[in-house]
Amino acid sequence: MTTAAVTVKDKESAPSVLVDGKPLVETSMVDFVAAHPGLRYVFFGGKGGVGKTVMAGVNAVSLARSGKRVLLASTNPVHSLSGLLGQDVFGKQTAVKGVENLWALEIDTRDAIERSKREIRDKIAWFLKFAEISTKADEFVEAATTNPAFEESAMFENMVDLMFRDEFEVYVFDTAPTANARRLLGMSKVYGLWVEKMVKSREEAQTLREALSFTKKKEDDPLMEYLTSFRERIEHARTLLTDPEKTAFFFVTLPEALPIAVIRRFVAWFTDFGIPVGGVVVNMVIDPAEAEGAGDFVKNRVAMQADYLREIRDTFDGQVRAVLPLYDSDIRGVAGLERAAQRLFATS
Ligand SMILES: Nc1ncnc2c1ncn2[C@@H]1O[C@H](COP(=O)(O)OP(=O)(O)O)[C@@H](O)[C@H]1O
Ligand SMILES: [Mg+2]
Repeated sequence: MTTAAVTVKDKESAPSVLVDGKPLVETSMVDFVAAHPGLRYVFFGGKGGVGKTVMAGVNAVSLARSGKRVLLASTNPVHSLSGLLGQDVFGKQTAVKGVENLWALEIDTRDAIERSKREIRDKIAWFLKFAEISTKADEFVEAATTNPAFEESAMFENMVDLMFRDEFEVYVFDTAPTANARRLLGMSKVYGLWVEKMVKSREEAQTLREALSFTKKKEDDPLMEYLTSFRERIEHARTLLTDPEKTAFFFVTLPEALPIAVIRRFVAWFTDFGIPVGGVVVNMVIDPAEAEGAGDFVKNRVAMQADYLREIRDTFDGQVRAVLPLYDSDIRGVAGLERAAQRLFATS
């Protein structure tokens, strides 16, 4: 048989999608959330356009409805939360109208980047003075900050700041900083060692300076303070982001080749690095029953989706948490999110 038989049951409540007679979702989103009462950091990753923003919104609404104090935050420079919620949430935490316990925020990327640049400029300027090098800090700052990796890590820092501020019970992040999380966590051991070495040699340098100094006055060392606090921050972030009780990265896909390939890679990376993978969400599935009587175009799409649904089941066996149908229009506003939440979070 080349075409998988897909059936969708109980369309308006908890849908169960059967692929070749076997349920695609074994442990659902509801079950997963129930089994992780300490869940605090929820991320959605995947290819562009697959529905990450929508899924983040749906989950944030559901968690807020369950009584948790939730922040839905976007670290993506191309924001879409304001559009999704129909309300301006740019640059400051804003209570979402119509949902108690829910706040939303689009981080002001430009501001975050400028702030990081200022910090780096201060550090470099201090260091040049310390080392008695008469070069302007600006040249170094430009070299260090004019690249996309810098912007990415400035955004990551911002996300970590939000987490550390600890004002909410649950943080739902629209768009997983996938590359960054992976880089940070994969590198954290190396970083740790590196920072430790730096700290040690700074300590030695300082002791020497003090020994040589006539005044014997203990000097402040901002670079040392920076290195020490940087090491602490990395370690703290790593601890939170690798805790399977607190953190879950979900990956959104469509029943199509490319989005599946993208999340297959992500899931493998994350699993390798010990970053908790919450599971896979399949979006925009056309219900075969809806396609009955439709033309060849729709029928062919349904057949194609059926094959990819089988591939999804085989690849992410036991990790698929939810399936959302393709609606006849965009998912927008709190009402749209509530409707989708019913499908994703209804208990069966
Ligand atoms: N199941 C769905 N049915 C219909 N439209 C959807 C569905 N999921 C998402 N959309 C729409 O698809 C577009 C892309 O979704 P979005 O969440 O912005 O994707 P991403 O954040 O991954 O780029 C949006 O216009 C959204 O309303
Ligand atoms: Mg998005």
